[in-house]
This record gives sequence, structure tokens and C-alpha cells, in this order.
Amino acid sequence: MISPIEGFSKLTQEQKIDWISENYTQDQNASKALLKKYWNADTELQKLHDEFIENTITNYYLPFGIAPNFLINNKLYAIPMAIEESSVVAAASKAAKFWLERGGFKTQVLGTEKIGQVHFMFTGEAQKLKSFFTKIKPKLLQSAASITKNMEKRGGGVTEIELRNITSKIDNYFQLHCTFETLDAMGANFINSCLEQFAETFKAEAQSYADFTETEKDIEIVMSILSNYVPHCLVRAEVSCPVDDLQIDSSISAQEFAEKMVQAVAIAKVEPHRAVTHNKGIMNGVDAVILATGNDFRAVEAGIHAYAAKEGSYTSLTDARIENGIFSFWIEIPLALGTVGGLTSLHPLVKLALEILQEPSAKELMQIVAVAGLAQNFAALRSLVTTGIQEGHMKMHLLNILNQLGATEEEKKTLVQHFKNNTATHSAVVEAYKNLGN
Ligand code: MEV
Repeated sequence: MISPIEGFSKLTQEQKIDWISENYTQDQNASKALLKKYWNADTELQKLHDEFIENTITNYYLPFGIAPNFLINNKLYAIPMAIEESSVVAAASKAAKFWLERGGFKTQVLGTEKIGQVHFMFTGEAQKLKSFFTKIKPKLLQSAASITKNMEKRGGGVTEIELRNITSKIDNYFQLHCTFETLDAMGANFINSCLEQFAETFKAEAQSYADFTETEKDIEIVMSILSNYVPHCLVRAEVSCPVDDLQIDSSISAQEFAEKMVQAVAIAKVEPHRAVTHNKGIMNGVDAVILATGNDFRAVEAGIHAYAAKEGSYTSLTDARIENGIFSFWIEIPLALGTVGGLTSLHPLVKLALEILQEPSAKELMQIVAVAGLAQNFAALRSLVTTGIQEGHMKMHLLNILNQLGATEEEKKTLVQHFKNNTATHSAVVEAYKNLGN
């Protein structure tokens, strides 16, 4: 019987490891040894990681890979990706190479607007609230001057505060809907600090507003928080080439391949079950770059999926067409990213990832990430409409299966060679491994 623990956070890292291993694992010694094995021998580096979160007991590694040869607006990038899934980096690299030979990727930032809201309850005459808001709006901005000063110096800040009446959905519910320009910062802390200041000033000013009744003066602030739905912090990436240049191999004509690609996208546009998987493939690329560059993948995921459903039904994030013999394939996604602040200057590998990307601005990073998503989708659809996904995937997954089976380096070499010319399924790999005398 395990009992609750008091003061877990106060234990040393070693004590935490002992407690978790002793109470929750079968082989305590093995668990303790494993958790410690993942500690970094460099104590400075370990301390840095320990302090990112609370109750750190060890590190959790993900592979950090590179997809080279991405030509984006005529500049060549090697894109760092942090991801565990076999074949994602290989697929990205393959798509990059394919489009490198066809003019590369073209991208454009369509907007950089970030959003935050103060949600509050006001019981009274909406018209009076409107007059009050108009009067005190400059005061709201002034009250946050110490927070916005530095951002304004760099050309950013609060771009608008709008009063929104949402009483048709919830009685007495209103918002201060605020928009921001946060430049190279993702801006979460900046936005939330501004919002909390607006909320405080708004409530205090209402209390002394002569036109309000006692009830009206008593504005109830429910919460102040940024929104991860940023439909106007938007980036577009595109590839295009003459259909004739899409001859991928002798198994399919260029025209048929282009048509099947367009058909595959058309299905994802109208069929939510397919759209979710289609977009999941896009997120393989997006998340891997987001993680490698120390950005918040949960925020990006939430915002992108909301964007995919903005017309009321979940749809594809990419689009494709053939027009006048030209095949075009593009993506439009919202991305609130930072290349300063947060983990960007703290995590050594994040710093290196940004250096590899030539120290991009947030806008440049938006374009790189959108390209990674588009490339991933191109690679997935290319396989899906031709050989099927398993051929390439199982080739990449082969080493995972062989490692699970406990194959030696020599056996791995032999079997990788064998499956260059044979279809790799899980059972075929096990069979071939047994045939080596195991
Ligand atoms: C697998 O991680 C991603 C795919 O399922 C994406 C897709 O179906 O388009 C291959």
C-alpha cells in the first residue's frame, strides 16, 4: 500500500529517485540505476535542466536530427528536428531535396498579431459600460507603460484594446479583447502581464466611475490570459513546378502523380477523419522544429488545430491545385513563436539549433516551421499515393525492431542489407532474425 508523500519537492534529487523507485517500480535497483544513468555528468548542465521544471529526477532524451537542403526564398537551410518517430527526418530531407531541384520553397508571413483577453462580468447597462471603456481606454494603456516600455522601444507593444459584449452567450459576460505585437518574443509573459494590469486598472476605475450604479461598479474579473488561437499570426509556404517535372519514378506518370496528390488533399479537405491524420503528418514536421528551437508545441498544436476547424468543420491545413500545367502545393498556418526569451537563450541545444538556422527572427522561424510542415505533408502524400506508407516507414523502423530483439551490430548490418530488397514487416523481420540462428 503506497501512502501519499508530504514535501516531495523538498527532497534531494537522489531521495526523489529512491522514493519513486521504491514505491512505484518492480526492480528498484534497476530503476534507480537507470534514472541516474540519464543524469548528465556535467553538473552545471544537469543543474540547468533540473531547474527548468519542478521535481526533476532525470533527463528524457529525444533524438535531435538534421534535415538538410531546404531552399527557402533562395536561402539554403539545414533544419534541426527533435523527434522520436522513425522516418520523419528522412521524409523531410527527401522532400527538401526534391524541391531543391525544382526552385525550392517560397514563403510569406501574412500577419504577426497576438491576442489576449480579460474576461469579466458586468451587471448593468451595456451602453454605460461602453462609455466607461471609451473614457478609460487611454488609462488602461498608461497603467501598463512600465511593462510595455521596452517592447515599444523595439517597435512592438499593445496594438488595440476592444470591448466585446458576449452576453448573448453568457449573461453579463464581456471581454477586453487585446491585440499585441511582440516581435521576436513569443510574448506570453509580456501579454499576460499587460492583461493583468489592464484588469486591475479596469476594476479600480469602475469603482470610482460616477455614472455607474453600485452594482455596475462591482465588475468581476474572471481571468486574464493570452489566447493560443492566433488566426492573424499567420504564415504561408508554397512549392510549385510544371506538372511535367513531377516524374518521380517509372511507376507513375507525372500527370497521374500530380492528380493523385490533388485528390489526396481534396479528400482531407472534406473528410475530417482523413484531415486529422493528414494534419498529424504536417505536425510531425512542425512540432519537431518547434521542439528543437525551444518553442511551446502545445500552444502551437492547440492554435493550429483550432485554425483547421475555423470554418466549423475540421479540414486540411494544406491545399493543392493544377492550373495551366503547373502543380502548386501550399500551407497556411498560425504560429506564435519566439526566437528570444523562454528557453531560447537557456537551453544549449536550442541555442545551437537557432545558430544552425542562422539566428532567425521570429518571422523567419515561422517560415521555416511552415516549410517543415509542408515538406512533411508532401513526403507523406507522395508515399501514400504511390508505394504506401509502410515501405519507407518500416525501413526506418527496422532498427527499432532489431534493437528490441537484441540483435548484435553484425546482425543489424546483415538484416538492414537484406531488407534493402525485401519488404520489411514486423513478422518478416522477426523471421529473418530467427533465420540467423537466434
Ligand atoms: C504518420 O506519422 C503520419 C502520416 O499518417 C501522415 C498522413 O497520413 O498523411 C503518414
